[in-house]
Amino acid sequence: MKPIIILGIESSCDDTAAAIWNGTQMLSNVVASQEVHKAYGGVVPEVASRAHQVHIVPVVDEALKQAGVKKEDISGIAFTRGPGLMGSLMVGVSFSKAFALGMDIPMLEVNHLQAHILAHFIDDPKPNFPFLCLTVSGGHTQIVQVNNYLEMEVLGTTIDDAAGEAFDKTGKLLGLDYPAGPIIDRLAQQGKPVFDFPEPRIEALDFSFSGLKTSILYFVRKKEKENPNFIQENIHDICASVQDRIIRILMNKLVLASKQTGIREIAISGGVSANSELRTSLVSLGEQENWNTYIPKMAYCTDNAAMIAITGYYKFLRKEFANQDIAPLARYKF
Ligand code: KG4
Ligand code: ZN
Repeated sequence: MKPIIILGIESSCDDTAAAIWNGTQMLSNVVASQEVHKAYGGVVPEVASRAHQVHIVPVVDEALKQAGVKKEDISGIAFTRGPGLMGSLMVGVSFSKAFALGMDIPMLEVNHLQAHILAHFIDDPKPNFPFLCLTVSGGHTQIVQVNNYLEMEVLGTTIDDAAGEAFDKTGKLLGLDYPAGPIIDRLAQQGKPVFDFPEPRIEALDFSFSGLKTSILYFVRKKEKENPNFIQENIHDICASVQDRIIRILMNKLVLASKQTGIREIAISGGVSANSELRTSLVSLGEQENWNTYIPKMAYCTDNAAMIAITGYYKFLRKEFANQDIAPLARYKF
């Protein structure tokens, strides 16, 4: 039988990505990141959309080339329908419609957040159902109970900023470049969490990060009055303290979610799961709580199309095809 080959397309924010999955292996996974946003301290939606238009065809060509696959071999095209920036999503959705029409193959619409979770099924070890997944990205923070590939239930979510935003916004007020998450991660490695920021009191499994950002802002302002070089002189310890607090907020909720559901298969996903301290914290917490823990490899943490391709594959198996009249959904819930 001919293998099922899925081309995945991701364009929800500022990364243009294409990947090819053949049912057992990710044959290629190409990402073009948009450096242009650094100068603005955040993603500029219109600029992102235009950059996707420039990148999409070369990125797909490169993914086909690296996989050694011809256009004619593709069985279906999977694309991110949402959530994300409307102008960015439009590029991936329009490209996918044109590709599907031209090649006469089915389209598979993918929820970006479900895809972050299903990134766990690209390589071994794979989690067993049901498992809990903490998805932490620039736009979202959720604890999801995953009952099957496409059956998922959100148990808790952020009521304001996402964990990635907490990293990025704090970084901005410390004068760091965007995205600040990876920079804070690196600087924190030479510091100690000596400054204590308060833990927000939020009901059940929901999260809040905006109070943390404000308390860091007031703390830094106060310290700068005493010493104008406070940030420069203490940047490593400040980063370690911010990171430590964000991670403890996340870990405390995971413990609660595991206790409430009785589930001990615990996974993390999304851009913030690339954080080195979060990765080691989850492993040690897992040993303490007797969990099986799952952490995606780095390339599948931040935005990528491999996760879109694998999600599309499971939809392909269930024949859940999209029509040509499909539109992107900036606020796509599941
Ligand atoms: O999943 P992702 O690539 O895009 C969204 O769907 O939002 O996540 C991007 C987020 C950014 O906020 C970035 O600062 C954060 O992930 N991030 C990190 C690290 N690498 C990326 N945060 C902390 N530590 C890191 N190493
Ligand atoms: Zn993402």
